[in-house]
Amino acid sequence: MTSILAEQTAKAGGQRAAAPSAKRRARSILNVVVNGREREDVVPDGMLLLDYLREVVGLTGTKQGCDGGECGACTVLVDDKPRLACSTLAVQMEGRRVETVEGLTHGGRMSALQQAFHEKLGTQCGFCTPGMITAAEALLRRNPDPSREEIKEAMGGNLCRCTGYVKIIESVETAAAARKVAP
Ligand code: FES
Ligand code: FES
Repeated sequence: MTSILAEQTAKAGGQRAAAPSAKRRARSILNVVVNGREREDVVPDGMLLLDYLREVVGLTGTKQGCDGGECGACTVLVDDKPRLACSTLAVQMEGRRVETVEGLTHGGRMSALQQAFHEKLGTQCGFCTPGMITAAEALLRRNPDPSREEIKEAMGGNLCRCTGYVKIIESVETAAAARKVAP
C-alpha cells in the first residue's frame, strides 16, 4: 500500500544514512510553530524532529516505535500533512507549522477524533495511538467524509501491534460522523 509516509520514508532513509558526523556537530537557529506557538531554538543540524519535539519542546506524545520509518508511531502534522518525525530533521521545519497529538485538543479537552478513539476502543496499549490520530486528522482535514477504503489507504503506514485494525477504522469513521455535527 503506497502512502505519503511511505514516500517520505524512502527519501528520508537515504538522507539519514548519508549524514556525515561533522554535520551533526553544526547547529542552526530553528524558527517553527509548534501546536500554534512560535518557537526559536538552537538545534543540532543532525537532530531528528522526533528528538526535537520530545527532548527540546517537551512534547512526549509523539512516540518512537521502530525509529526506521516503518511503523508510523512518530507521525506528526507538518502544514496539515502527515510526516514521520523519525525520518525528518528538525532544521527542515524552518518556517513551518508542526502539530503533535497534544496540539489536537480543544481547550484542554479531547477532540472528537481523540474521543472516538477512546470510546470505540481504537486504543489498546496506546503506543501507536498518537501516530494513528495524527494520520487520521490529516485525512479528515483533506477528506471529511472518507470511505472505509480511503481510511485504510491513509492509515496504511501506521502499524498497531496489539490487535487488528477494525476498532481503529471504526474510530475514524465515528470521528468523521461527529465532525459533521460539531467540527
Ligand atoms: S518511529 Fe518513525 S516510523 Fe517508526
Ligand atoms: S494500541 Fe498497542 S500498538 Fe496499537
